[in-house]
Amino acid sequence: MNSILLIGGTGFLGSAVVRELARRPASANFQFTLPTRRREKAKHLLVLPTADVVDADVHDPATLAWLMQGQDAVISLVGVLKGGEGQPYGQGFARAHVELPRKIAAAARAAGVRRVLHVSALQAAADAPSGYLRSKAAGEAVLREAGLDLTIFRPSVIFGPGDAFLNLFARMARIAPFFPLAGADARFQPVWVEDVAATLADSLQRAESIGASYDLCGPRQYSLRQLVKYAAAAGGHPRLVIGLPQAVAWLQAWAMEFIPNGPMTRDNIRSMRVASVCDSGCSLPFGRVATPLELVAPTYLHG
Ligand SMILES: NC(=O)c1ccc[n+]([C@@H]2O[C@H](COP(=O)([O-])OP(=O)(O)OC[C@H]3O[C@@H](n4cnc5c(N)ncnc54)[C@H](OP(=O)(O)O)[C@@H]3O)[C@@H](O)[C@H]2O)c1
Repeated sequence: MNSILLIGGTGFLGSAVVRELARRPASANFQFTLPTRRREKAKHLLVLPTADVVDADVHDPATLAWLMQGQDAVISLVGVLKGGEGQPYGQGFARAHVELPRKIAAAARAAGVRRVLHVSALQAAADAPSGYLRSKAAGEAVLREAGLDLTIFRPSVIFGPGDAFLNLFARMARIAPFFPLAGADARFQPVWVEDVAATLADSLQRAESIGASYDLCGPRQYSLRQLVKYAAAAGGHPRLVIGLPQAVAWLQAWAMEFIPNGPMTRDNIRSMRVASVCDSGCSLPFGRVATPLELVAPTYLHG
């Protein structure tokens, strides 16, 4: 295996996967192709001599066909947290989580690229309460039906330098005297970005992962309230967290949908109705031991 196409590979997790693969001796000759909508956003990857960051619209079938040429594997990482409202899911979710995997499957088959790694989300299910989770489940189904050498990864929330979760709370704590929090009792089992990246890299080299689906979780479960308090304190600004009643949380999320890049949507609240935790406790495949949040988060939240 020499050439890997990472679709959605310029983001938080994709960048960690590229770094992880690039430093493994077994992948010394790997060449990575990373399509992006905005090349300047991927500056951190341009410095890697084996990474080719290209401006490309991955939703265009002809562009996808061109990107697939000569690849040995595809890693599919595109994900959006805001996809609009609607049934069975909003348009944005349908486009990124269902139609794109369908196009990836078709292009991979046409180009003879059999090996596909796909990143979904923990608790994705056809009957999940949110459009995000339902569309992620539909994307998994589309890829499963395509008859490829597929491995699916379903992480809980991912933490690490540059995450959009703990960093957001730590940043907000700098300006907010207290936290009025929606979904305060929602449960998560955060997993370290480097553990997720290493698991994907392992899987590329392990034939037994073909056809498997892995739920990925860290060692401990937390409520959202605990995580917000922790991030605020670790960032040097301990704050009081006040759980919002459901109706108020709903109104707050609705209002935030009108703010560009607002931190919450009604669909996010629906997602939090299912605990994003692994039934089997701490869970990483291939004998990996998950890294505790408390070991890593203070190193990047402080200051
Ligand atoms: N982070 C988490 O806590 C978490 C938890 C569970 C599951 N996941 C899943 O893990 C995957 C990676 O997440 P991440 O945190 O690395 O996300 P991220 O940092 O937001 O990166 C998303 C990537 O997808 C691309 N992308 C986003 N919207 C797109 C669109 N509409 N069309 C085409 N490309 C688009 C971006 O490319 P550009 O360079 O073009 O912007 C970027 O490379 C996603 O599928 C996500 O659902 C993440």
